[in-house]
Amino acid sequence: MGQSSGIKKTIPKPASVEPLTFALVKQRNVKLPVCPVMFIKLTEALENVDKGRNDLDKIIRTDPVLTAQVLRVCNSAFTGLARKVHSVEESIFRVGYREVWSIAAALKARELFEGSGEHTVLYQNLWEHSIKTAAYAHALSKRLNPLFSDIYFTAGLLHDIGKLVLCQAEPGYMKVCQSGRISGYDLVWAEMEAYENHHARIGGDLLRDWNFPELLAEVVALHHEPPAIHDRLNLTRCMLSLANEMAHCAEPDSGGKIRLPSDFAKELLEVLGQSIDTCVLVGGDAQRMLAMLNAV
Ligand SMILES: [Fe+2]
Ligand SMILES: [Fe+2]
Repeated sequence: MGQSSGIKKTIPKPASVEPLTFALVKQRNVKLPVCPVMFIKLTEALENVDKGRNDLDKIIRTDPVLTAQVLRVCNSAFTGLARKVHSVEESIFRVGYREVWSIAAALKARELFEGSGEHTVLYQNLWEHSIKTAAYAHALSKRLNPLFSDIYFTAGLLHDIGKLVLCQAEPGYMKVCQSGRISGYDLVWAEMEAYENHHARIGGDLLRDWNFPELLAEVVALHHEPPAIHDRLNLTRCMLSLANEMAHCAEPDSGGKIRLPSDFAKELLEVLGQSIDTCVLVGGDAQRMLAMLNAV
């Protein structure tokens, strides 16, 4: 099977297997990812950016550990400050509201990917891919849909959260995803064969369970689906799918080579009316953001 492409072929439906729905996973009483309360507060602060400017300072200051972490990242070499900042308020003023918000959100999302035992490496790889996708989604949105760039950043951070659910619910999941060595369409295919469901849909259901905005849950649930012109979210969700593809392209494959843009990525670019030049510009923006977020 070729590298990541849209779901175009018929997904196999093994008659003997009961679909592994999110409801079924919940009934099993397994340890599901728990959304940090602070992450919810930060997401809520996005709803009103003007009010959020004040709120962000207050929200972060309620958590001394987070405050210290935000200051550490803001004072790292990557933000290029000539003088150190000593408070969240000063960080917002000198580094930027959106930058401080992204740093705080990434720091809290990181907690979700702290795996242990046999899951440690997979969780670490997933985190690295998720932060990359968040930076690409943010950069892409800044050029195509700037009002929603923070929402896309969040969607990028959480887009593969369904994989964490599958890891906890299914002891054989590590084998299905070959410890994270397969991704994109190939992985969705393997998941459908094994569970008659896949990580994107399960991730969307988890976000609904967390009471996250429906838009966020939907774009996450659909990030491996092919574009559909009649879908009201078509353009919105294609941006997250493209960010995911771009993040994969920027990562070496199992042979250590940088991947070429997949057919799915080319299809998404066409739907969004963009060319490969957009990818180059977005790639540059995303790399600058990642340099700062690497200190997270
Ligand atoms: Fe995915
Ligand atoms: Fe992904």
